[in-house]
Amino acid sequence: MPSLPSIHRQVQLLTTPDGLPRPEDFTIVEVPVPPRSSGEVLVRNRAFLVSAALLRTLIGAAAAGLPGPRPGDPLPGAAIGEVVAAPDSSGLRPGELVGHDLGWREYAVVPVDQCRRLGDSLPDPLAHLSQGWTAYAALTRTAAVRAGDTVLITGAAGAVGSLASQIARRLGAARVIGTTGSPAKARVLTTELGYDAVVVRGAEPIATQLADAAPDGIDVALDTVGGEQLQAAVQAARPHARIVLIGALSAQLAAEGAGTTAPLELDLAPIVLKRTSMRGFNAADHPDALAEWTQRFGDWLQAGSIRFPHTRIHGIDRAARAFQEVVEGRHVGAVLVAL
Ligand SMILES: NC(=O)c1ccc[n+]([C@@H]2O[C@H](COP(=O)([O-])OP(=O)(O)OC[C@H]3O[C@@H](n4cnc5c(N)ncnc54)[C@H](OP(=O)(O)O)[C@@H]3O)[C@@H](O)[C@H]2O)c1
Repeated sequence: MPSLPSIHRQVQLLTTPDGLPRPEDFTIVEVPVPPRSSGEVLVRNRAFLVSAALLRTLIGAAAAGLPGPRPGDPLPGAAIGEVVAAPDSSGLRPGELVGHDLGWREYAVVPVDQCRRLGDSLPDPLAHLSQGWTAYAALTRTAAVRAGDTVLITGAAGAVGSLASQIARRLGAARVIGTTGSPAKARVLTTELGYDAVVVRGAEPIATQLADAAPDGIDVALDTVGGEQLQAAVQAARPHARIVLIGALSAQLAAEGAGTTAPLELDLAPIVLKRTSMRGFNAADHPDALAEWTQRFGDWLQAGSIRFPHTRIHGIDRAARAFQEVVEGRHVGAVLVAL
């Protein structure tokens, strides 16, 4: 174990962004490694997730008057790291890998009850930063995917969507359709990630493309985007279809407003007529799914039957730029900063 430095680096919010944040809204500062008190664990971070979900924390929280990072605060985000020191009563030992939510910094002091022991269930520890748990819980708990279902996944190239297709297949889905932002990404999704067809926004209307891709309609939609994608899902729903509302990327990533609200016009008549269910979803409501997912993900990775699509970016100094690339939709899968 390397000796403990007195100073470490963290990414702080410089200004509360007005609209979509740019790299200039963040700054890297050197600060003392914080002292640990009883009930806390000192962790040397190894990697953290850079995700559009940060926008909800930064802008959505500020607009709603909820607590969130203020200028001068380090950014939060899913991270994994090695325990440096922990209370004896925690059972955590130096060198052990834990997961927590204090990313964007090299060292973190984390309350014991917010540290998750990771063990060696996954062949690559960085795979603990996948968003597969969200996709797995939504598909197994809320949508309850059945053999033969036709499944639509919006935001197919994102961290959630790039695993959702592969999971839906394993749960017996007969046909999986995605939405994405470019033909190049659509090709990756169909050739590498189990999508049968991909609808590209900005070309023809999504509803028209979806009607071609799923002429008999859809049974399940995992919606991370909202907007035109959700309207198309409602239109394509078969009787008793289940639509799971996971996120609203189209509003989150809009240049104007940046996710403070996600208004949408929907025709209620077919929803009533076809008994479509639409349910808001939060992975945190399904802690039981996390252990189950981690076990199955590990088995599938070992067997080589699933991929963990991700981009690994090295160095905390590249984190703000990585976030910009996520906002611009430059990558397929999760974007991780390795330290
Ligand atoms: N409810 C929960 O428990 C839960 C848990 C995790 C995440 N979430 C939410 O789920 C959503 C997806 O998360 P994620 O981690 O998969 O996202 P992510 O990987 O950070 O998403 C980035 C993706 O957004 C897409 N995108 C960019 N601009 C867009 C636009 N204008 N309209 C639609 N898509 C656009 C890009 O792909 P393309 O340009 O190719 O489409 C890009 O791949 C987010 O809203 C996140 O907050 C919710």
